[in-house]
Amino acid sequence: MQGIIYVLALFVAGASIASDAARPNVLFLVVDDLRPKLNCYGETNMVTPNLDNLAINSVLFERAYVQQAVCSPSRTSFLTGRRPDTTRIFDLKTYFRRLAGNFTTLPQHFKNNGYITWSIGKIFHPGKAASGKDDNAYSWTYPAYHAPTESNRLEHVCRGSDGQLASNARCPVNLDDVKGQSLPDIQNTDMAITFLQNRSLDQQPFFLGLGYHKPHLPFKFPEEFLKLYPMSNIHMAPNPYYPPWLPPVAYAPWDELRGYHDIRLLNLSFPFQSIPNDYQLLLRQAYSSAASYTDHNVGRVLQALDQYGLANNTIITFHGDHGWQLGEHDIWTKMTNFDIATRIPMLVHVPGVTSKPSTPRGQTFPFYDALTSTKTANGVQSPCVTPMCSDEQGPSASYRTTDALVEAVDLYATLCELTGIEIPSTCPPDNLNIPLCTEGFSLVPVIRHVTKDKDDVISGKDFAWKTAAFSQYPRPSDVIQKDSDGPELKNIRIMGYTMKTATHRYTEWVAYDPVTFTHNMSHVYARELYDHTNDLEENLNIVDQVAFKGLVEELAQQLRGGWRKALPEGYWG
Ligand SMILES: *[C@@H]1O[C@H](CO)[C@@H](O)[C@H](O)[C@H]1NC(C)=O
Ligand SMILES: *[C@@H]1O[C@H](CO)[C@@H](O)[C@H](O)[C@H]1NC(C)=O
Ligand SMILES: *[C@@H]1O[C@H](CO)[C@@H](O)[C@H](O)[C@H]1NC(C)=O
Ligand SMILES: *[C@@H]1O[C@H](CO)[C@@H](O)[C@H](O)[C@H]1NC(C)=O
Ligand SMILES: *[C@@H]1O[C@H](CO)[C@@H](O)[C@H](O)[C@H]1NC(C)=O
Repeated sequence: MQGIIYVLALFVAGASIASDAARPNVLFLVVDDLRPKLNCYGETNMVTPNLDNLAINSVLFERAYVQQAVCSPSRTSFLTGRRPDTTRIFDLKTYFRRLAGNFTTLPQHFKNNGYITWSIGKIFHPGKAASGKDDNAYSWTYPAYHAPTESNRLEHVCRGSDGQLASNARCPVNLDDVKGQSLPDIQNTDMAITFLQNRSLDQQPFFLGLGYHKPHLPFKFPEEFLKLYPMSNIHMAPNPYYPPWLPPVAYAPWDELRGYHDIRLLNLSFPFQSIPNDYQLLLRQAYSSAASYTDHNVGRVLQALDQYGLANNTIITFHGDHGWQLGEHDIWTKMTNFDIATRIPMLVHVPGVTSKPSTPRGQTFPFYDALTSTKTANGVQSPCVTPMCSDEQGPSASYRTTDALVEAVDLYATLCELTGIEIPSTCPPDNLNIPLCTEGFSLVPVIRHVTKDKDDVISGKDFAWKTAAFSQYPRPSDVIQKDSDGPELKNIRIMGYTMKTATHRYTEWVAYDPVTFTHNMSHVYARELYDHTNDLEENLNIVDQVAFKGLVEELAQQLRGGWRKALPEGYWG
């Protein structure tokens, strides 16, 4: 009932989009391995005009976290609305329905409520993790779509410094040289646009999951995106070293990257030899280029929403499935409990609520083509193709941000509340036999709080909300070894539980038994504490400093209370 009150409160000023007559559509955008390296997140060297424009028309979550920093566990968590300790999905090979429970997924719940649901690209983790078939039998109206060129993932099409065509990590390509003269994200974009066109002719609401592959490795993208990132603008990570006082169990030795041809040529010794600086810069340039390539593709889909008259009735969520270390802490992967691996970009767009009044040409999502412009010496795009300087939004355009602590697992309940379909109740501790419940909380109170005064940049402290965001990561050992990045379930011996509060990150690595799925909080291998008021980069583990003994005790207790204790008492009635 509380949910309905929120929806009404949200829509007092406009039409109630949650009414039966015009139930809103959902465009659920997920980007693989995208950390908040976007212009709208303050990364001023980034060229991401279409996502910046989406951000202008959304609530931008500054502090959004995934529940485990690797694909399948993270995706299974936000798609089931439950946390990894419940889904028991910590690796890339296990299917939640086989191991944990017959949970009603987010798209399945929409399907059960009269929506056409479809998956394009990577929504569920492919392969065994989702039954080998994207959970098709349960989640989607039609079998999930995968671009034909997806099978060319490792083809030898990128020219390395040795002049050879190879399967490289850094992989700018000429589309004429690749099989099918296209790439998966381009083909998925085309298919999404066709789907939107078809849906515009029909009344039945849709839930479209559209999952972009880039900037996941290999960093393969049309080579023209490189020109957006002149090398003079590319810098090393600020902290490209193994931090002092970092327990080895916290480190990920980035084994996936080492397998690519260009990285093998560097003859790096495992696990600690750093990538030479000049190649670090080239990898960072490639990641940024791949992010701009995704921005370009997303921009085409958003433009299609406008074009087919769907923009005013489609809720859009956009988020990464986890972050990525681009050399920070001398790491080149996700797969850690650091902020940079667990923090994601997250945007929620609700038509008429989070959007500005429409632009002079009546468009919400004009397409910004970064490739038709170049960057001037002072960093300005010329001609202007960003929403910030174009007449579409005007120079006064600004973001509606919140620093409320939010979690990807919250998206399930949020989308239910925004569309007016049943919000699952909060799961009891023992919930493997409950098909429909959630371990997240609707973000509608936060959205409402941010949008009630359009110029208000609210703080999570201003109103009752979560005091912490929780993530976890498994390890096979407290010694760094080949599978430290991502142990198979049967090899997990340690679980790192981490908690981000308004001011700190606190982590404990404890014993874990993968047969009984139990952790032992009395058997602690290592602990970490970072003070985010002066060390957001998490370079200085202060957990053993005498001055913080009291704080550590407090945080240790809060960690043991977990997510159930992170919301004010009686919050959800
Ligand atoms: C799982 O749940 C669905 C309904 O959501 C039901 O149709 C199916 O039979 C269940 N499968 C098993 C193995 O219990
Ligand atoms: C769009 O509609 C056409 C004509 O009905 C159909 O053949 C095609 O499969 C549809 N495509 C998508 C992606 O919905
Ligand atoms: C890597 O090792 C090979 C064979 O030992 C050698 O030819 C090559 O020069 C080495 N490359 C670098 C970058 O050290
Ligand atoms: C959306 O816009 C179209 C025309 O562009 C209009 O016909 C329709 O009524 C609008 N829908 C809502 C929910 O405002
Ligand atoms: C948990 O770990 C502690 C400390 O190593 C040990 O004494 C205790 O027996 C363990 N508990 C279980 C249930 O394994």
